[in-house]
Amino acid sequence: MSRIAYVNGRYLPQRYASVSIEDRGYQFADGVYEVVHLYEGRFIDQDRHLNRLERSLKELRLPQPMSRSALIQVLHEVARRNRVREGLLYMQVTRGVARRDHPFPAGSVPPALVVTIRRIPPYPTSVDGWTAKAITYPDQRWARCDIKTVALTPNVLARQAAREQGALEAILVDAEGMVTEGAATNFWIVDAEGRLCTRRLDEHILPGCTRAELLCLLEREGIEATERPFSANELNMAREAFITSATSFVRPIVRIDGKPVGDATVGPITRRLFALFAEHVKGPRRNAA
Ligand code: PDD
Repeated sequence: MSRIAYVNGRYLPQRYASVSIEDRGYQFADGVYEVVHLYEGRFIDQDRHLNRLERSLKELRLPQPMSRSALIQVLHEVARRNRVREGLLYMQVTRGVARRDHPFPAGSVPPALVVTIRRIPPYPTSVDGWTAKAITYPDQRWARCDIKTVALTPNVLARQAAREQGALEAILVDAEGMVTEGAATNFWIVDAEGRLCTRRLDEHILPGCTRAELLCLLEREGIEATERPFSANELNMAREAFITSATSFVRPIVRIDGKPVGDATVGPITRRLFALFAEHVKGPRRNAA
């Protein structure tokens, strides 16, 4: 079955779907996006993703492509037409099509909206089979990483470096030696004193929906977490490390730059948080973690 994409008002087989070569997303990376996990037909953390999309649009002075309820309908329709009940949905909004010129187009150019979906493997049932390696890499991004823009070249280079070193993720380190986040994930450690830490929100990291949801779950469970910056040096002493995102859920990082984190197996806190988040995704009774 051919995959169906939503492109500017139409549902089309993906191989026939196209956008203009003068789309500002193509020419200037002048657009924003979201990636949402679909589990058993439900979009996980849907409101958080739509809130962040609206915020990204506002920060870039991009108009909303349609009302929130109309957008939700499109998202479900893309899932339905592709017969996907477990997958990753991608949506992208750009400043539309106009003759190439850096300032915003004059007049009312409608924003361009593209939505696609693809199947993913079943949700990991065992956290021990969900471990990954990471590298550290210089954070070469711009000063507004809190906006989810499609301008991802530094993230692409970082992830490619990780791949070339046999790792999944690149942990980005700023000019002061402080960890910001992963190239496409938020990053957490259990430090040498056993405290669970992730960087506080600022303009240097994306406010992850998984991060936010996990912090709520932690509070509910009475598990303490500190939002504080930590240095790349601290990684050497960390007992545990993990990443979070709509595609990674809670994913243990057991080696960084080839060196073991703790004893290079899944630590107790990461194990508990994987289970907590799995319960959030699947519902309490079906948590097989
Ligand atoms: N990435 N930080 C960055 C730089 C990201 O690109 C992402 C998401 C996250 C985690 O956010 P969330 O928990 O809302 O997925 C943090 C998506 C999955 C991507 O680009 O594919």
